[in-house]
Amino acid sequence: MKKSELSPCPALYPVPVALVSSIDKATGKINIITIAWCGNICSDPPMVSISIRPSRLSHSIISQTKDFVINIPTSDMARKVDLCGVKSGRDTDKFKACSLTPAASLKISSPAIKECPVNIECALKSVIKLGTHDMFIGEVLTVRADESIMGENGAIDYAKARPFTYNQGEYWDLGKNIGSHGFSSR
Ligand SMILES: Cc1cc2nc3c(=O)[nH]c(=O)nc-3n(C[C@H](O)[C@H](O)[C@H](O)COP(=O)(O)O)c2cc1C
Repeated sequence: MKKSELSPCPALYPVPVALVSSIDKATGKINIITIAWCGNICSDPPMVSISIRPSRLSHSIISQTKDFVINIPTSDMARKVDLCGVKSGRDTDKFKACSLTPAASLKISSPAIKECPVNIECALKSVIKLGTHDMFIGEVLTVRADESIMGENGAIDYAKARPFTYNQGEYWDLGKNIGSHGFSSR
């Protein structure tokens, strides 16, 4: 292999693409932001992170409300995901513009997005200032998955959930399952 050196950048890929929903408790306004900088960061207690620029409306809402829902969209929702990533809740009701339905969460005040088959309810634990983005660390209080995407083993069947990724400005579908944990040594 002959490798080129690139300037330092967050070069991890693929990264998930998620819709994060929240509510402004003071006004009752609900909002959605598209997030690509997110990930699993701890198994026990179950923790995830999302990174948000201070300029986003969602940054101030989640900082105040202290909870949020990470909703995993299906690949046929790419257009809605894109719209939630180019319009701000300051001037657009994104639930309405995308024909998405807010659904009451079980453990937190922020609503989930009904049309997303996976909803991860998070309580904000801390915010770490990084630079362009602040990292919001959330403890997962509960996960809800639509019955239509549950596998026979009681876990989410991601072939049915059809998530997609965001890479260098483009949305990409996932391919096929190419192995399972530990298959290298079975
Ligand atoms: C695919 C995609 C991924 C994005 N990922 C992030 C992200 O991880 N963090 C962030 O602050 N903004 C991200 N954005 C930009 C916000 O979604 C966008 O600025 C949005 O309009 C903010 O909405 P709000 O002001 O209602 O919170 C992304 C946009 C797109 C299209």
